[in-house]
Amino acid sequence: MPNRDFDIVLWGATGATGRRAAHHLARRCGESGLRLAIGGRNRQKLEDVRTNLPGADGKIGILVGDSLDPASMQDVAAKARVVVSTVGPFALYGSNLVEACAQNGTHYCDLTAEPQWMRAMIDAHDKRARETGARIVHSCGHDSIPSDLGVQFLQEAAAERYGVPCNRIATRVTRMKGGFSGGTAASFLNAMRLRDTDPDFSALSLDPYALCPEDERDGPDGPDRMMPIQITWDADLKAWTKPYFMGPMNSKVVRRTNAIMAYPYGRDFRYEETGLTRGGIGGWFSAMGSTLFGRLFLIAMANPATRGFLKRKVLPKSGEGPSKEVRESGSYEIVLVGEVPDGNILKARITGKGDPGVRSTTMMLTEAALCLAEDADKIAVAGGFWTPASAMGALLRDRITTHAGMSFELIDSQ
Ligand SMILES: NC(=O)c1ccc[n+]([C@@H]2O[C@H](COP(=O)([O-])OP(=O)(O)OC[C@H]3O[C@@H](n4cnc5c(N)ncnc54)[C@H](OP(=O)(O)O)[C@@H]3O)[C@@H](O)[C@H]2O)c1
Repeated sequence: MPNRDFDIVLWGATGATGRRAAHHLARRCGESGLRLAIGGRNRQKLEDVRTNLPGADGKIGILVGDSLDPASMQDVAAKARVVVSTVGPFALYGSNLVEACAQNGTHYCDLTAEPQWMRAMIDAHDKRARETGARIVHSCGHDSIPSDLGVQFLQEAAAERYGVPCNRIATRVTRMKGGFSGGTAASFLNAMRLRDTDPDFSALSLDPYALCPEDERDGPDGPDRMMPIQITWDADLKAWTKPYFMGPMNSKVVRRTNAIMAYPYGRDFRYEETGLTRGGIGGWFSAMGSTLFGRLFLIAMANPATRGFLKRKVLPKSGEGPSKEVRESGSYEIVLVGEVPDGNILKARITGKGDPGVRSTTMMLTEAALCLAEDADKIAVAGGFWTPASAMGALLRDRITTHAGMSFELIDSQ
C-alpha cells in the first residue's frame, strides 16, 4: 500500500457511537503510535470531539467531507490505510465510502447490520476489492462479532476435542442489559420503510443464505424469521427460547463465514440464534411476554401513525444514546450449544462488559480497525469482502478479550 497520511480514519466521529469510538481509538492509537484522524461533515463538531480526546495535542487529524459526495469519500479513502465508519444507516450514507475503499485498496470496517445493503456492496465491489487488496469487513459491532467469533471459537474446540466440527449450533442470548442509540433507531426505521417499498427486501431478509456467494445460497436452514410466533423448548439448556431481533442478521453472517471459508463447519451445518428465558411455567410466560411485546412493537412500527409517534417521542434521535451510567453498568452474555455428528455436545459462554448497543459495540469496532491496521501482515485472507471471523478470527478474539472487556470460555461439556 502506498504511503498514506493516516493509519486509521474514523469516519462519523461526532455521532453516538462515533464519539465513543473516537475516545477508545485515540487512547489505543496513542499507546501504539498509529496516526489517527477523525472525520465527518461538520468541522466545528469534530474540533469539539477532538478537544476531549486523550492524546489530542495536535496529533489527531481532522478530515471534513460528506458521505453523499463521492469525491470527498475518494479523498478519505486515499488518505487512510484503514477506514472505520459509524455513518449510518449505511444503506442511506455508506455506499460511496465502501466503493472508494474498494477502489483505493483501503481496508474498511463498519457497524452495519443491514443485510440487503451488504449484499448490494458485495455484488458491486467485491471484484474491485480483490484486485486492489482492500479488506472490507462489515458488521464489526455487537452485530455480529460475538456470534461470528463465538461460533468459530466453539468450532475450533470441537475440532480439537472430537476431530470434527459441530454440524448444529444454537446461540442463545441469555443476558442483554443496556440501551441503543439514535443511529440504530434510524436503521430500524429505514428497514421498515424498505419492507414497505422494496419488493426484494423481505425475500432477502427471509433467505438464510442471502449473504453467501451466488452459487452457494443453499443449505439445511429454513427461513430467518425475525419474530416467530411460536416459542420453543431448548432441551440442551432446559429453558424456553424467545425471539431475538438481531438473530436473523447474525445468522446470515455466520453462514457467510462458513461459505466463504470453503465450509470449515461442513455443508450440512445448521445455525440458529434466539433469546433464552428460563425453564418452568415462569420461563414460558416470560418467553410469551417477549414474543407478544415484540409483535406489538413491529405492528406499531408498521403503522405510519404509531411509527411517527414512536419516532418523535420514544426513540432516540441521531447523536443520542444511553447515559454514561447505562453504558457502564450494561453487560451481556450469550451461550452457544453445539452438537457434533456422533451426538456429543459442547457449550461456550461469551460475555461482554458495557452496554452492547454503544459501549461494547464501539470497543469491538475499534479493535477490528486496529486489527486491520496492526495485524495486516498476519491476516491470512487477501482483498475482498469478509466477515469478522473469516478476516480476523483469533487475532480479533485476542484483542477483544484483552482490550474490550469480552470473554470466551467453554462450559460444562459432556
Ligand atoms: N452493529 C451494531 O451492533 C450497532 C450498534 C450501534 C449502532 N450501529 C449502527 O451504527 C450506525 C451509527 O449509529 P449512531 O447511533 O452512532 O448514529 P448517529 O448518532 O446518528 O451518528 C451518525 C453519524 O453520521 C454522521 N453523518 C450523517 N450524515 C452524514 C453525511 N452525509 N456525511 C458525513 N457524516 C454524516 C453524523 O454527523 P453529524 O454529527 O454531523 O450529524 C454522525 O457523526 C447506525 O447505522 C447504527 O445502526 C450498529
